[in-house]
Amino acid sequence: MKILHLISSPRGEASFSVKLGNAIVEKLQAANPGSTVTTNNLTNTPFPHLEEVHINSFFTPLENHTPELAEAVKHSDQAITELKNADAIVIGVPMYNFGLPSALKAWIDHIARAGQTFSYSENGPVGLIKGKKVYLAISSGGVYSDGPMKAYDFTESYLRSVLGFLGMIDVTAYRVEGLSIPNLKDVALNNAVESIIL
Ligand SMILES: Cc1cc2nc3c(=O)[nH]c(=O)nc-3n(C[C@H](O)[C@H](O)[C@H](O)COP(=O)(O)O)c2cc1C
Repeated sequence: MKILHLISSPRGEASFSVKLGNAIVEKLQAANPGSTVTTNNLTNTPFPHLEEVHINSFFTPLENHTPELAEAVKHSDQAITELKNADAIVIGVPMYNFGLPSALKAWIDHIARAGQTFSYSENGPVGLIKGKKVYLAISSGGVYSDGPMKAYDFTESYLRSVLGFLGMIDVTAYRVEGLSIPNLKDVALNNAVESIIL
């Protein structure tokens, strides 16, 4: 199995989404001996916010690419190739202000490309990235899996929508949550790791 592990917390080894992502990767490796892992830290090598040149590069046919457009499309091409090559994608998601960190959103903006990862048919949109297993490792100070704050969670719902739009419909979410809540914070990681069933 080829595993792609995306990291979007800048906190290195202290990060709970990294720890939970690592636990998912380890369980995948144990269940699939000989697996390879590609780790892509989106905070060390960030994808740029989309500028005019990126948009132009996405919508200009390859044969008309100037050197500037060819350079601009490289990030996106590389990310899409990495995605297509993977069998399983583990995405670390620290909740920031109820949603994704901008580093992860920037990656999404580079992989969601008409004609490459989705297209439109007479019956509507078609996702082109098929057959992937996606695992989300979501960390948060509060609790969002259930209870009064559930409606404030725009991490899992957004990722399920956008990844599903691109064809990745087999998505499992694991959460290390309650990291700011006194009686939960010390058991949150253990509870999350124990919840992993592949
Ligand atoms: C900028 C920022 C925004 C945050 N926003 C939220 C939030 O909206 N809800 C929440 O429950 N926790 C929030 N937190 C807490 C983080 O989700 C929590 O610390 C988590 O462990 C961060 O992930 P990491 O450990 O992988 O870095 C925020 C933390 C930071 C630094």
